[in-house]
Amino acid sequence: MQTRFWKPSQLLETDPSIEEAAQLLKDRHVVAFPTETVYGLGADATNEEAVQKIFEAKGRPSDNPLIVHVADIHQVEELTQNIPDRAYRLMEAFWPGPLTLVLESNGSAAKNVTAGLSTIGIRMPDHPLALALLRASGKPLAAPSANRSGRPSPTDAAHVWQDLEGRVAGILDGGATGVGVESTVLDCTSDTPVILRPGGVTKEDLEKILPNVDVDSALKDKQKQPRSPGMKYTHYAPEAPLWLVKGDDEFFNEQLIQLKEEGHRVGVIVSMELAEKLNHDLVSLCGSRDRLNEVAGRLYAALREFKKADVDVILCETFPQTGVGAAIMNRLTKASVNILTQG
Ligand code: TXA
Ligand code: MG
Repeated sequence: MQTRFWKPSQLLETDPSIEEAAQLLKDRHVVAFPTETVYGLGADATNEEAVQKIFEAKGRPSDNPLIVHVADIHQVEELTQNIPDRAYRLMEAFWPGPLTLVLESNGSAAKNVTAGLSTIGIRMPDHPLALALLRASGKPLAAPSANRSGRPSPTDAAHVWQDLEGRVAGILDGGATGVGVESTVLDCTSDTPVILRPGGVTKEDLEKILPNVDVDSALKDKQKQPRSPGMKYTHYAPEAPLWLVKGDDEFFNEQLIQLKEEGHRVGVIVSMELAEKLNHDLVSLCGSRDRLNEVAGRLYAALREFKKADVDVILCETFPQTGVGAAIMNRLTKASVNILTQG
């Protein structure tokens, strides 16, 4: 398949590439587009044949439901039933933005969007290109992250091209995304909403609107089955094995030196503060440890940076679990095969 690549001008609504991409979506093709979190791979959420192409392009297991993207609340009402008042309050506070609400489905979405669940995950993305595409297509768009299954999510159109060129009808380039980690997935079907996946909207943010918010116990306890089906798969993995280092800067340096002495070619993903203390070349910087938003924004690009040919192991710094740190550590833990903990 020939993959179209568009870089729309600033005059979004009138740029012909938006109309072309929207037409491909109406014709049941899949198109990748930027959101404020990561790039999504979109298809008409009401058409089973179109949605099937998402699973094929990504190589994604079909028991993992997709998030539906909407341009307005009317589209939410067309896909769901019994929307609780707390969900409206969250939409008002955080949309457009990186918050996915799991609501009761009314069965209007294609069956393969919800993977047979009675609920559906929906969000309104905070990106002018995504919103322009949603409006031009007139459809709610099912869109998982636009990476090959198991790979780090794409935060740049070039990442999408690397993973999906020849497998999708088109890619809309909107530059680098801002938030960098995916949306928070919040189950709103119970009286106390439950965070199923930590993301761009933090627990602290949510608690400003609703006093009680729970966290899915599987996020804390590895033994438990996660309630969000996608959380059980290997995710976000770089090409070389990723090892997390939990300890102070001196401990990190000791681990690095030891691995080098054993003859390993080691890549490191670290904050600029730690980088200054290491005597090492193969460094991928992920911003300042004092600005976790910057770390989130850089994380997936950093994971893609090292190729198997360059390094045989990647050591990565760990970060506090506060604010967006919860999402950062959730993704890093899932991407890693080993954790070195200071004794
Ligand atoms: O930021 C994002 O959310 C990005 C951009 C493209 O919007 N999308 C994204 O989609 O990350 P995906 O498919 O990679 O992740 C969807 C997550 C999975 O963990 C899935 O299991 C969960 O949302 N999910 C979707 N529908 C659900 C439902 N009805 N109940 C529970 N979890 C659901
Ligand atoms: Mg994903």
